[in-house]
Amino acid sequence: MVETSCLALISFLIFSFFTVEIHGSKQGIVFNKFQKSKYKVDSQIDRRDFNAQEVEVDNHILHSQKGLKEKDRIDKLPGQPRVNFSQYGGYVTTDKLAGRALYYYFVESQHSKQKMPLLLWLNGGPGCSSLAYGALEELGPFRVNSDGKTLHKNGYSWNYAANVLFLESPAGVGFSYSNRSSDYNTSGDRKTSTDNYLFLVNWLERFREYKKRDFYIVGESYAGHYVPQLAHTILHNNKKANNTIINLKGIMIGNAVINDQTDNQGMYDYLASHAIISDQVMHDIHTFCNFSSGTIPSQCPTALDEYIQDISFIDIYNIYAPLCNNPNLTSFPKKNSIVIDPCSGIYTHAYLNRANVQAALHANVTKLKYDWESCSDILFSKWGDSPSTIVPLLHEFLNNGLRVWIFSGDIDGIVPVTSTKYSIKKMNLSAKTTWYPWFSNGEVGGYAEVYKEGLTFATVRGAGHEVPSYQPGRALSLITHFLKGTPLPTTKRQP
Ligand SMILES: *[C@@H]1O[C@H](CO)[C@@H](O)[C@H](O)[C@H]1NC(C)=O
Ligand SMILES: *[C@@H]1O[C@H](CO)[C@@H](O)[C@H](O)[C@H]1NC(C)=O
Ligand SMILES: *[C@@H]1O[C@H](CO)[C@@H](O)[C@H](O)[C@H]1NC(C)=O
Ligand SMILES: *[C@@H]1O[C@H](CO)[C@@H](O)[C@H](O)[C@H]1NC(C)=O
Ligand SMILES: *[C@@H]1O[C@H](CO)[C@@H](O)[C@H](O)[C@H]1NC(C)=O
Ligand SMILES: *[C@@H]1O[C@H](CO)[C@@H](O)[C@H](O)[C@H]1NC(C)=O
Ligand SMILES: *[C@@H]1O[C@H](CO)[C@@H](O)[C@H](O)[C@H]1NC(C)=O
Ligand SMILES: *[C@@H]1O[C@H](CO)[C@@H](O)[C@H](O)[C@H]1NC(C)=O
Repeated sequence: MVETSCLALISFLIFSFFTVEIHGSKQGIVFNKFQKSKYKVDSQIDRRDFNAQEVEVDNHILHSQKGLKEKDRIDKLPGQPRVNFSQYGGYVTTDKLAGRALYYYFVESQHSKQKMPLLLWLNGGPGCSSLAYGALEELGPFRVNSDGKTLHKNGYSWNYAANVLFLESPAGVGFSYSNRSSDYNTSGDRKTSTDNYLFLVNWLERFREYKKRDFYIVGESYAGHYVPQLAHTILHNNKKANNTIINLKGIMIGNAVINDQTDNQGMYDYLASHAIISDQVMHDIHTFCNFSSGTIPSQCPTALDEYIQDISFIDIYNIYAPLCNNPNLTSFPKKNSIVIDPCSGIYTHAYLNRANVQAALHANVTKLKYDWESCSDILFSKWGDSPSTIVPLLHEFLNNGLRVWIFSGDIDGIVPVTSTKYSIKKMNLSAKTTWYPWFSNGEVGGYAEVYKEGLTFATVRGAGHEVPSYQPGRALSLITHFLKGTPLPTTKRQP
């Protein structure tokens, strides 16, 4: 019985790789695969609660950043339309001894950059790139054309609302690297968080004018871990030093991995209630598929097989989206749509692997031996720790007066809105403003609930896993209200 279940699990994992090829969108699948391995009987992943590593911000960890900001300035990306804001890209060393450096891409605000807050965006995986998803397919100022070598503007870029920093993390993701290759075998949530913190304090030395700026961290998917963990590390080290080393004001996470048990339950419930899997399959998976228990009854692999059959021909990150049917680049750019082209991952991959693009971005300066990938191929031999829940961190932020928003694109099937609702329920909050439709551009942008403890939960109607890709207008509206700290509009017309 155990053997059959292992076979089922293996076929599940292999199948996941096929769906990767079909969809060209790996973020959620990487997560799904990771989640399964995390709960296997022989899993080595530490699932205990997260604790920050203490970092003394002194000359030992702060490296001289003199002159580096100007060196990082990007004149113009290949094939880029004209814009008025400044862009920067480059490496920040987080460990001199190991030779570990994280790659960032920074776009200043389209206007009033001195007044706008600083926002750090993180993607998930673990192992996926914020440059691929965040910057070039979701909320950045440009998107890649179907020729894989030119760009067009995203009219709903979040740099209308903030100065936006994208970070590829941990080392081994995208252009971020370590010269000590064993670092790739010892990644985990804790190390990622410490490295992200070391990145930030050094980046703020390089961009000193942002040091005291209001700072927000936002991310999606597995960044439901990274964002709160980095926020916790910042709070912890600010307190230790009696000093606001980083002026953190709030966090927001979307379609986020929050609490494994409810995330998992919510996924199958969503797929059944959205007519993708049968109620029987949902029931059997809930009842029989517990990978932590030693023996797995045969009903589990049977149910999983059916589940795989049911989801494998749709885009599970947006259950109603068209698929990418032609993986070839075109000689001339296709006409752009506001909603993301389902083949975008292919265009982005081509663009970021071009030598002229890497040169303009100041990326891959050490001539890495592998291609740039949207989700890392080199990190996965081992992932050390991944807490089963981040709910205690969210409580900590609310108790410390940080702004905490959770959003959910309501047609994602990987970390669906049901998962998020169940996870929030676990937090035992009391509603202040009960469930109401919020408006954006004269339509219902989604639904929201505000809690007395200070948390806001908002759905984004008609958005998949990557919310700004599918509903860019609603996403810009959401981030604008989050950053201003204003409630999402309850009426069609808002002053
Ligand atoms: C840049 O700014 C100028 C002056 O504010 C404005 O006229 C122009 O339209 C802007 N160009 C772009 C490409 O945004
Ligand atoms: C990694 O090694 C290369 C080649 O020796 C070197 O140029 C680079 O600066 C090193 N990276 C870091 C972050 O020290
Ligand atoms: C990292 O793990 C891989 C796969 O287990 C192994 O082949 C490799 O030797 C390890 N590298 C280091 C530097 O430990
Ligand atoms: C921080 O402040 C507390 C209380 O004022 C004090 O006891 C502690 O020594 C201070 N710590 C540092 C690192 O200055
Ligand atoms: C799965 O099995 C483990 C180990 O037997 C047990 O601790 C856990 O509660 C089970 N989970 C569920 C959801 O039944
Ligand atoms: C994509 O390109 C390959 C190689 O040129 C070609 O064989 C294939 O037919 C193309 N696919 C489509 C859907 O056009
Ligand atoms: C880095 O550059 C080398 C040499 O040009 C290239 O072969 C490799 O694919 C690039 N890797 C990444 C991660 O960009
Ligand atoms: C929520 O309340 C229940 C019942 O009172 C309690 O068992 C649980 O620990 C609480 N959870 C949190 C996260 O506070």
